[in-house]
Amino acid sequence: MHLQFLVRGFCFLLPFLVQPSLAVPRLGKSYGSRPVSTVFQLERNNTWFENLAVRSNGNILATRIDSPELWSIVPSGNSSQLGHGSCLFKFPNATSTMGIAEIDHDVFAVLTGNVSLPSIYPTPGSFVVWTVDLTTTVPGVKVLADIAGGQFLDGMTKFGDDLLLISDALKGVIWRLNITTGESSLALSDPSMLPAAHQPVQVGVNGVKVWHNYLYFTSTSQELFARVPLNANATAVGPVEVITSGFAFDDFILTPNGTAYLSTNPENELIQVLPRGRVRLFAGYQFMLSVGGSTAVSVNPEHSMLYVATSGAQFAPVLGRMEPAKIVSIRL
Ligand SMILES: *[C@@H]1O[C@H](CO)[C@@H](O)[C@H](O)[C@H]1NC(C)=O
Ligand SMILES: *[C@@H]1O[C@H](CO)[C@@H](O)[C@H](O)[C@H]1NC(C)=O
Ligand SMILES: *[C@@H]1O[C@H](CO)[C@@H](O)[C@H](O)[C@H]1NC(C)=O
Ligand SMILES: *[C@@H]1O[C@H](CO)[C@@H](O)[C@H](O)[C@H]1NC(C)=O
Ligand SMILES: *[C@@H]1O[C@H](CO)[C@@H](O)[C@H](O)[C@H]1NC(C)=O
Ligand SMILES: *[C@@H]1O[C@H](CO)[C@@H](O)[C@H](O)[C@H]1NC(C)=O
Ligand SMILES: *[C@@H]1O[C@H](CO)[C@@H](O)[C@H](O)[C@H]1NC(C)=O
Repeated sequence: MHLQFLVRGFCFLLPFLVQPSLAVPRLGKSYGSRPVSTVFQLERNNTWFENLAVRSNGNILATRIDSPELWSIVPSGNSSQLGHGSCLFKFPNATSTMGIAEIDHDVFAVLTGNVSLPSIYPTPGSFVVWTVDLTTTVPGVKVLADIAGGQFLDGMTKFGDDLLLISDALKGVIWRLNITTGESSLALSDPSMLPAAHQPVQVGVNGVKVWHNYLYFTSTSQELFARVPLNANATAVGPVEVITSGFAFDDFILTPNGTAYLSTNPENELIQVLPRGRVRLFAGYQFMLSVGGSTAVSVNPEHSMLYVATSGAQFAPVLGRMEPAKIVSIRL
């Protein structure tokens, strides 16, 4: 089943590809052998970690689609021991927390809204961006902006000094939010960002990250990883370029040298894409057995360890099994 995904995944070109640079992943010696350790796991099934941010002190912040909570997780520092986690804040008037992005030292923007599981069905108009200030003993939490036109806001990243870019997975667009004023407007739209037709889950543009004036994004149901060059106002100044395709990419991280690590939620691999576009399977079979539904990827402050969040395999049970959502680590 695993190899079928790879073969199917790389056999077709989507009609709107611009500058395709498709490559077959090399099944190098990392295939299936890279050790995966559990950092933290929730207690119940039907839980779903959606996004991660790592603080400069090494603690992990995790959002949850199944609950309007922001979790703080302290890794143990020893891969054979579990870390500990707790709810840092429960947001009112929402069912879920999604994107998270650091906007200032230890100040995070967090996206809340209503998304029902396991159908992943959003309530348009329910999405709110909050700021969570962790520089004080008691977190300072306040609303930054309501994004009334948002249909399914999910990924969020900082751009420049004072903007947040937010993916809208149902509308197929990227919103810009001015952090200083709280004003939001549409920044980007492209056919590559729309949900694919006739798919059970309407999720288009999903993960978003910025590197060297490009916005990198995944488009889940179109199975794309792509980028678009931006000016200082987050307006596109060139066409969308597809970097690779053929996996149900969820979210990803870009390390400082431009290497991307992408999760593939139901397919459950971790894909590495080097800056020049070479694609490699970074963690496969063993990863699949120990990780139920990879959703988001982050990296520790030393850039020596990847953290991967999971949806507890709600969407595609691994070997028919669900499990509580967890966070695992993989040494880089
Ligand atoms: C890590 O934890 C294991 C199991 O508790 C223990 O045997 C080992 O000594 C620890 N390693 C370090 C470096 O502390
Ligand atoms: C979102 O969910 C919360 C909690 O269930 C509910 O109180 C609120 O009315 C919902 N908002 C919308 C716009 O449906
Ligand atoms: C709940 O959220 C909705 C949608 O964002 C908003 O219109 C409403 O004012 C909120 N209600 C409360 C009590 O915060
Ligand atoms: C955000 O708003 C501030 C205050 O109006 C403005 O000075 C700044 O230029 C805006 N940022 C962008 C990128 O438009
Ligand atoms: C940036 O875009 C917003 C929304 O389109 C617009 O209101 C603003 O004037 C633009 N700012 C600059 C500096 O171009
Ligand atoms: C970039 O960093 C990754 C680790 O994230 C490493 O595997 C890779 O070799 C580095 N590439 C270059 C060109 O330095
Ligand atoms: C989660 O569900 C699986 C069946 O899919 C079951 O075997 C397991 O015991 C459940 N775990 C918990 C913690 O309830």
